[in-house]
Amino acid sequence: MNADQLLKAQRHKLIMILGRGSVEIFESILDHLLAWDLLSWEEYEHVKSPEVLSHSSRNLLDVVTLKGTRACELFLLALEDTIHTSQLADLILSSYKPPEKSPEPSASLATLPSQSLQQHRPNIVRKLHGHIAAVLEILHSYGHFSKYECDEVQLPIYTPSQQARKLLDLTKAKGEDTAQVLLDYIESEPGPIKPILGNACLKYQEKLSSTLAAQSRFLTNYAGTENMCLEDIYVDCLLEVSNTAAAQNGCLSFLVSLEDIFGPDGILNKDADTVLITGEAGSGKSTSLQQMQQLWATKQAFQDFTFVFAFSCRRFNFIDKPISLQMLLFEHCCWPDDHQSEVFQYLLDHPEEVMFLFDGFDEFKFQFTDEERHCSPSKPSSPLNLIFNLLQGNLMKNTKKVMTSRPNAVTANLRKYLQKEITLKGFSPEGIGKFIRKCHRNSSSAERILCFVEANSALHGLCHVPFFCWIVSKCHEQLMQNVSDFTHTMTDVYLLILEHFLLHLTQNSRGTNEVLLSHVATILHLGKLALDGLNTCCYLFSAVQLQDAEVSEEDISLGFLVCSHSFSHAHNAVSYRNYEFFHITVQCFFAALYITLNDDVAQLTLYSLFKHRQENPSLCIMSAGCYSGWPFNCHLSHEEDKRRNETLLQEAETSNLQITASFVSGLLSSRNRDLMGKTTLFQKQSKKCRLVKKYLAKCIQKHFLSIPPAVGGEKKSMHALPEFVWWIKCIYEMQDSDLAKEAVSKLQVNHLKLTYCGVGPVECTALAYALKHLKSPVGLQLDYNSVGDLGIEQLLPCLDICHSIYLRGNDISDQGVSKLVERALDSCNLQKIALFHNNLTDACAQDFAKLLKHKNNFLALRLGNNHLTAVGAEVLAEGLKQNNSIQYLGLWGNKVGGAGTCALAAALENNTSLLWLSLVGNNVDSHGAKALALMLKKNTVLEELCLQENCLVDEDMLHFAEGLQNNTSLKVLKLSNNRISRKGMEFFVNTLKHNVTIESVWLGGNLVTAEEIEEMTRVERRLIF
Ligand SMILES: Nc1ncnc2c1ncn2[C@@H]1O[C@H](COP(=O)(O)OP(=O)(O)OP(=O)(O)O)[C@@H](O)[C@H]1O
Ligand SMILES: [Mg+2]
Repeated sequence: MNADQLLKAQRHKLIMILGRGSVEIFESILDHLLAWDLLSWEEYEHVKSPEVLSHSSRNLLDVVTLKGTRACELFLLALEDTIHTSQLADLILSSYKPPEKSPEPSASLATLPSQSLQQHRPNIVRKLHGHIAAVLEILHSYGHFSKYECDEVQLPIYTPSQQARKLLDLTKAKGEDTAQVLLDYIESEPGPIKPILGNACLKYQEKLSSTLAAQSRFLTNYAGTENMCLEDIYVDCLLEVSNTAAAQNGCLSFLVSLEDIFGPDGILNKDADTVLITGEAGSGKSTSLQQMQQLWATKQAFQDFTFVFAFSCRRFNFIDKPISLQMLLFEHCCWPDDHQSEVFQYLLDHPEEVMFLFDGFDEFKFQFTDEERHCSPSKPSSPLNLIFNLLQGNLMKNTKKVMTSRPNAVTANLRKYLQKEITLKGFSPEGIGKFIRKCHRNSSSAERILCFVEANSALHGLCHVPFFCWIVSKCHEQLMQNVSDFTHTMTDVYLLILEHFLLHLTQNSRGTNEVLLSHVATILHLGKLALDGLNTCCYLFSAVQLQDAEVSEEDISLGFLVCSHSFSHAHNAVSYRNYEFFHITVQCFFAALYITLNDDVAQLTLYSLFKHRQENPSLCIMSAGCYSGWPFNCHLSHEEDKRRNETLLQEAETSNLQITASFVSGLLSSRNRDLMGKTTLFQKQSKKCRLVKKYLAKCIQKHFLSIPPAVGGEKKSMHALPEFVWWIKCIYEMQDSDLAKEAVSKLQVNHLKLTYCGVGPVECTALAYALKHLKSPVGLQLDYNSVGDLGIEQLLPCLDICHSIYLRGNDISDQGVSKLVERALDSCNLQKIALFHNNLTDACAQDFAKLLKHKNNFLALRLGNNHLTAVGAEVLAEGLKQNNSIQYLGLWGNKVGGAGTCALAAALENNTSLLWLSLVGNNVDSHGAKALALMLKKNTVLEELCLQENCLVDEDMLHFAEGLQNNTSLKVLKLSNNRISRKGMEFFVNTLKHNVTIESVWLGGNLVTAEEIEEMTRVERRLIF
């Protein structure tokens, strides 16, 4: 299909895409078309006239299609340049082959200044951002523009790009002299300059930075318990950016530092300007934003931004009246003491100097929507709508936005507006050490705690979540006193902190049971508050709400509720105090305590807690009615209270529900039921426990049954949903191996796929706990999760039940491999290991060599895209020499080079098992090729050799041709993307006459012309291009 046919066929869809897009996108397409001389000025004026976008799009398509194929090609290029690929997914572009190159502006054609301005229009529009005022001043002073025209260009209704376009259009109308002045300015000011701040703005900047510095100095969460200075405690977490574009299949990921999150890696949509950081509860999202805030305010980083505004989404739920953008910035972040409108105007004029930080997007009561467009900086709207429009770029386009969220609140609709997505993965093993050392300045006690943590594998896994690590570090005394009573689960960790706070309050050494029992009333008060809050996505409580929930001053003094710093720094601060649990997960824990301890919590509440939410995975949508009213009412009768409990949790946010459910499971475990003692309050606990166990076993069975049956006599391959991992976590929290056995032993699966399921060390512990009860071996596929070395350690107990383990893209290093291999040596079932795209170096080769040497039923090792060099390959070759079971060896994308290839080839000469070898993209040179060719003379089993993307030349083909003369096993030889010309290929043509085993030789992407390809395929059909 050529371009004009495509445009005609897809006209309807194109109009929909353009019509639903922004004016900015439409106008940038016009910029391109003007620059490429595809539109005349008259046509441009005609199509840009400010009508409904879909109407303008129709006009544009009419003009373009009338101009023929080339014009349509250019239009598609402009479209691809400006619109995010995901938005173009509806268009069937796959059948269309775009022209090789986009038109370059040719300097020789641009003789007049106005022509230059037009040919470089898309770039000039960008370049003029932040310069409009300065340029206008010059044009005005030379008499080119009147005052009125200057004001007209700078009208606040225009975005900076629109102002730039206005300026260009007006310049064009004025003639060449004006164009020359503008061109001179652009050429003399190559980079964006920061205008000098006026006094009012300077003063505001100072106030803003001192406000943010003060706000971010302490970890506010613990204001009630201790003063923790962020600077003293902060440790870098693992931040990972994914780059799907760079990967051949799947995605590649890179670690970045907080200061580099705006770098070029992983950009999904270059027109968007929101960077999203996702991470599980307690992984350090809020703390990372706080650190960014601190770094800017103390001038240590992010100094490209003149102003930074930080918000917590939790607090927006509290503002129930419409506000304008100015109110949002000034009243809810920092108030300029004077010249408010001057300061606000500066912000509007220089959006690229402004950064917004939005923490906890998942804490919004409502899901993201782009239905209500709001572009006016002065008109009030709901805070939610303001934020949604800021994110879309309808308001203050070109400001940088950094937002954090738990993963399941991120919808496909929101993703359209993200520039990139970064995953926060908690602490690395080294990070845990650093953190504990920072918490305990006394080095010997730090080392003691660290030793203890590292010796308890499940605890070590938990500590990779910073919040858990903090609790463990804080409660180390209790932990280390009860060495026999090992802490394994998340519930154990939260019970520790509960006990710690209660002990701290009572200041005596009563036993845990006693302390808990003496505070049951308090726990229930806080629990009720917590549960009602979860039910309405409310995480911030006013004094009135506390009163309604019967939370007393004494309850508050325990420290679980802390005073929120919500509006205290802003103008018009709300005078009364607001409270929040010191972490949302603590709120979940109290809700779970309430559910467990309160006799009136009905079966239905338990059911809604555990039920499958597939119908609406990111459940955060609430009815407006729910939003306006506060459901707390302590004056309910007993019956009403009971009924209310029955309907609870229907609307709560999924990830908090899941956390609460995990805690409920943990609290109902037999260990903890004993801990709580046997008072009348706990009578119904065993019934609840039976119910929860039933739900969990059923959920897993049902999930299994919902998967399509296996084909012809094979076992099922099960692609589990993220819920599966959560249920397994609940089972683990219960610490009930009978339940684990019951839940998984009936799963007759051959392959269990858990890719992209957010599996970290904590989840690995739970998976291993449950999966070891599977009846027969499985392939466990955990690609693209956050397993890491810590997770590997957790998985070891279930390695015996795996015939294969796939861990692509999981941040695993040589240390992790060492542990894996050690266990693999004793796991008779394990036959395949895939570790594509991790952080492996030559040091791991020793372990794999040992594995190959000692494990004579091992079948496949895939180590692609790691950092192995010739040194590692040589070591691996030693193992290979002594193995005659391995059938697949993948080393794609390492740096094995000629020497490494020689070693591997030598090891394979007499090998009798290897069927497939991949050395794609390994700098294999002529030495390597020669050795491989020699190997082919002797080897009698190898069926496929992959050597794409190396440095092979014609002479190497001569060797291969010789090697293949008498070879009777090789079926496929892949040599695409090397430097082979016709001469080299002809060697093959001759050899293949005598070789009947070879089925295909791949030669695409080499140095031959289309005619040569045609000629050669005619002679030898097995050559594939
Ligand atoms: N980088 C870090 N350095 C030191 N401590 C950290 C770090 N990140 C998190 N913590 C500790 O963990 C606690 C919880 O982290 P934080 O509140 O940032 O998690 P979160 O990802 O925002 O969780 P949620 O999803 O529930 O909002 C912090 O209060 C702090 O004690
Ligand atoms: Mg947070």
